[in-house]
Amino acid sequence: MAGDAAAVAELAEQLAQSFSFAPERFRESYAALLGDDGACLLLAVDGGEAVGYLLGFRHLTFYANGPVGWVEEVLVQPSRRAGGVGRLLMGEFERWAARRGCALVALATRRAAGFYAALGYEESARYFRKLLPSG
Ligand SMILES: CC(C)(COP(=O)(O)OP(=O)(O)OC[C@H]1O[C@@H](n2cnc3c(N)ncnc32)[C@H](O)[C@@H]1OP(=O)(O)O)[C@@H](O)C(=O)NCCC(=O)NCCS
Repeated sequence: MAGDAAAVAELAEQLAQSFSFAPERFRESYAALLGDDGACLLLAVDGGEAVGYLLGFRHLTFYANGPVGWVEEVLVQPSRRAGGVGRLLMGEFERWAARRGCALVALATRRAAGFYAALGYEESARYFRKLLPSG
């Protein structure tokens, strides 16, 4: 629904830090993600209000003998934090990934290590990245 796209955009903009949020790129990505079987986009709604979202993926690996789940983005509205919404979103993604045969769910985080630890995640690797010149 168009309203869902606007709600996800509003939430996703809050997560953007390294890159400034670009509405036209969001629209392209949103449409592509809805048609992508390997993508999972969740929007948490309470009483008609969008309170959080999660974007995750299933992809194939050699190291895990098959698919794994990867959480790319998760955000809960500041006024709705500490109320269990993040846990609900992660639990739903875990079930989505498990149904698709994923051996594990993983993610990288800078700001929310305590959240993932509370959900039973264990620290496993350090995260490196390199920004590429835009095309
Ligand atoms: C991280 C975030 C998604 C958590 O969502 P939330 O709805 O507040 O989390 P919940 O209320 O479901 O918390 C679940 C558990 O994690 C714990 N927790 C949540 N945030 C935490 C934090 N920053 N540090 C330590 N523990 C935390 C809660 O205490 C709770 O534990 P409990 O169930 O044992 O009491 C939310 O704080 C957020 O949107 N942060 C900004 C964006 C962000 O950092 N996203 C992650 C990018 S990788």
